[in-house]
Amino acid sequence: MNNGLVVQESVCLRELNTLRVGVTARFYTKVRTLGQLRQALTWARERNLETLVLGGGSNLVFAEDVNALVIHLAIVGRCWRDVQDSQATLVLGAGENWHEAVLYASGAGYRGIENLALIPGTAGAAPVQNIGAYGVELSDTLLSVTALDTETLEPVVLASNQCDFAYRDSLFKRQPGRYIILEIALLLSRSRPLALGYGDLKQYFSGRQVSRSLTPADVAQGVMAIRRRKLPDPAQLPNAGSFFKNPVVTDQTWERLNRDYPEMVAYPADHSVKLAAAWLIDQCGWKGYRNGKVGVHNRQALVLVNHGDGSGRDILALARRIRADVEERFGITLEMEPRVVPASLGL
Ligand code: EPU
Repeated sequence: MNNGLVVQESVCLRELNTLRVGVTARFYTKVRTLGQLRQALTWARERNLETLVLGGGSNLVFAEDVNALVIHLAIVGRCWRDVQDSQATLVLGAGENWHEAVLYASGAGYRGIENLALIPGTAGAAPVQNIGAYGVELSDTLLSVTALDTETLEPVVLASNQCDFAYRDSLFKRQPGRYIILEIALLLSRSRPLALGYGDLKQYFSGRQVSRSLTPADVAQGVMAIRRRKLPDPAQLPNAGSFFKNPVVTDQTWERLNRDYPEMVAYPADHSVKLAAAWLIDQCGWKGYRNGKVGVHNRQALVLVNHGDGSGRDILALARRIRADVEERFGITLEMEPRVVPASLGL
């Protein structure tokens, strides 16, 4: 006990990561306030210990026991700011559950994040990989991030354009450890058009007769139905979502690939083409593969699953085999999406 900070020793992290990998943290603390977070960082520094900040644990692969102080960030709270006729800012504490925040905002009639329903994890983790789904990315509505600068232990406010957002990428991902996200502010609207262009979503709503105009809550429900059909619920079949990014290739590479594989699935991006990694993996025959402990989901080839007892190393060994197959067959190197801890054991 140290001014409200409770540090435990040898804590199993199985329930704190959605792959349900049962590694042990040397030290663990749950922080609910900025003061406790500062204390935790100081406590670790005094002992020359590394720290690892944990949110919902949905984008992490633990490859071995964690020789660090694991800081479980549970700073919660949500409020509206600058409410005007057609728009408002929703401020979310980093520890808020992302999906509940989506239901809350869309239920209140605000548009902007409804396509991001059912993404596991916390609001504070959302900017790190710039979460995205069904044609929408967090960066489309993110106004600013308030983060603790770990060099000065002072909070800083970073505007969206300072966060270097890109597809599944951000400043926070590129400089792990530099900032700890405390809260995020989203600019939501009551009037912007709903984003219904993504294939699955278009199909979902075209097959339904709706007598009134669609609301953001309807879209959130549609996204939830689609996700439940395709993606495994981590509570039932542990997983970390998409395991690889969709590779982005030049127009030239695409011309070659399209010539050799006319049926390859791809989408136009900025002066480039984004390939469907799930299709590449599927073509190599991995969908539904299982080697006892770990495997590939049988409805989405991009999702690796833990059937029970698999370790992070088992998952990574499988990911290496998949990556090698895709590389050999298509000449494309897949890039991993979740963070590996420690990074030195990553692909
Ligand atoms: N496909 C296959 N085999 C499969 C699955 C998909 O061939 O087993 C092909 C289909 O042709 C499909 C295409 O791949 O049309 C794309 O599949 P899907 O629409 O399921 O999307 P994705 O590109 O595999 C991305 C995100 C998901 C997000 C969905 C929906 C990445 C890395 N993943 O997946 O995000 O939910 O789009 O927008 O960009 C996550 O990041 O964890 C995640 C689940």
